[in-house]
Amino acid sequence: MVAVARSPRRQPAQAELPAFAQDVVEGLSGTPKRIPAKYFYDAAGSHLFERITELPEYYPTRCEMEILRAQGGEIAKLIPDGAALVEFGSGSNKKVRLLLEAAPQVAVYVPVDISGEMLAQEAAALRADFPKLKVTPVVADFCYPFDLPAEAKAAPARVGFFPGSTIGNFEPHEAASFMRHAGRMLGANARLIVGVDLIKPAEVLNAAYNDAAGVTADFNLNLLTRMNRELSGNFRRDCFEHHAFYNRERHRIEMHLASLKRQKVKVAGETIDFRAGETIHTENSYKYSVGKLNALARGVGWLPAGNWTDARGYFSMQAFTLAEPARPRPAL
Ligand code: TRP
Repeated sequence: MVAVARSPRRQPAQAELPAFAQDVVEGLSGTPKRIPAKYFYDAAGSHLFERITELPEYYPTRCEMEILRAQGGEIAKLIPDGAALVEFGSGSNKKVRLLLEAAPQVAVYVPVDISGEMLAQEAAALRADFPKLKVTPVVADFCYPFDLPAEAKAAPARVGFFPGSTIGNFEPHEAASFMRHAGRMLGANARLIVGVDLIKPAEVLNAAYNDAAGVTADFNLNLLTRMNRELSGNFRRDCFEHHAFYNRERHRIEMHLASLKRQKVKVAGETIDFRAGETIHTENSYKYSVGKLNALARGVGWLPAGNWTDARGYFSMQAFTLAEPARPRPAL
């Protein structure tokens, strides 16, 4: 996830060590150990994640759907006629459907996702239900710069859609950097609609990431299974445990995989030592206030243009318009 924050380096070329192997070796060689959260989303991970969104404890998806259902009309007013809607990390298309129903003026929809399999299925379903809409999926890791399809470039304006509080899975400085790059990519007259999970009592947050059915644990542990399969690893799932807790000082949920004992594991040709209780930090989910996200956006050239919350005030959708680029200062 750091790539956005630095100079926007391209994904490594095919000939080098694949990005997954490189990131895992680097992440497990350091202290503390960590792996970028985007690697959760292989086919199994994407399906497990869809199940998380339906869990009774996991409120964010339902809250966001409630906002889109109740306020979709208002949000849609910010979308120019003939616009291209670009969704970062689309996954299932159930949220964008609500927005598209409220905004028939959208001419082009560009779902961007790292999971190609899911993307193709969902695009086909959308084309069937929105026959006038051009659906042009892009398989890409949106942490890196990518090229928009010609149809989206030709549209009179581009609107970014970033739901699911995925922005909270970036470090705050990365979130700012992502928003700056999104503005550059979407170009003049751009809009950005972001869904973000709000700060709330720790009990509610902790329950959302520690569901009784253990689906979130499965989702986290699936990363071990993926490393075993794709990087010739020998992780034992029964030797690691899902840990998720709210870190109040930093306003974030942390997810870890904790080693249940002292052990050595092989992965991507390396041997990794674990102390008993040592963890791999797999994800952060930062929680924001409306004001904090607005401030972050302003800092990188986006002007707040509206915000909407659900009845309980758990979740917020916030819209931004791209500020005019500052005119170069006259030379003295
Ligand atoms: N971005 C959402 C969140 O942070 C969804 C999500 C990403 C998630 N990874 C997750 C939810 C892992 C549960 C577990 O809440």
